[in-house]
Amino acid sequence: MTITLRPATPGDIAAITEIYAESVLNGVASYELDPPDRAEMERRMETITAGGYPYLAAIEDGALVGYAYASAFRTRPAYRFLVENSVYLSPLARGRGVGKLLLAALVRECEQRGFRQMVAVIGGASPASVALHKAIGFSEAGRLTGTGFKHGRWLDTVFMQLSLGEGNTSDPLPLSV
Ligand SMILES: CC(C)(COP(=O)(O)OP(=O)(O)OC[C@H]1O[C@@H](n2cnc3c(N)ncnc32)[C@H](O)[C@@H]1OP(=O)(O)O)[C@@H](O)C(=O)NCCC(=O)NCCS
Repeated sequence: MTITLRPATPGDIAAITEIYAESVLNGVASYELDPPDRAEMERRMETITAGGYPYLAAIEDGALVGYAYASAFRTRPAYRFLVENSVYLSPLARGRGVGKLLLAALVRECEQRGFRQMVAVIGGASPASVALHKAIGFSEAGRLTGTGFKHGRWLDTVFMQLSLGEGNTSDPLPLSV
């Protein structure tokens, strides 16, 4: 496996839209029921990158096989040092360490930009996602039950959290975004 990571660009939107659509239609990580189209995914990417958050692509043999980005957990400004992460892979790329590569790089990138906490909001309490976040050092921070209903069943949400850099042990510096 040779995986290269690089910042995602609008040129990646077709592949990203396809990967996300598969997860929306078949999985429980996303609570969306209808896959967004390319224009909407491009708008979302623009909002994320313009907000100073990293958006990364994983490339294998010239094809985009996964992506990860950080975004605001909540928009009120005192939350500004806390980011939420998202990681999605094409089905064939799963279980081969690509998620770990992407998430570790996203953590490093967010630390460099001055963010101090990262939260994973794990829809459907997906075992693969919980295992991925544990492997990177996240701890479980709570569980909400019955948060979603999809594919004919109730879903729980697991929160996991990782301190970035000095976390809450020192005052934050201005974000370099
Ligand atoms: C969740 C996801 C990103 C994980 O990425 P991945 O590349 O498959 O995971 P990795 O191969 O890097 O494995 C990371 C760890 O999780 C474990 N793991 C991976 N898949 C697993 C599964 N299905 N069940 C249990 N553990 C699993 C691995 O053993 C590894 O642990 P280790 O380092 O202690 O050995 C990927 O499966 C995916 O895209 N799923 C659909 C979308 C999704 O759920 N996204 C998360 C949104 S919160």
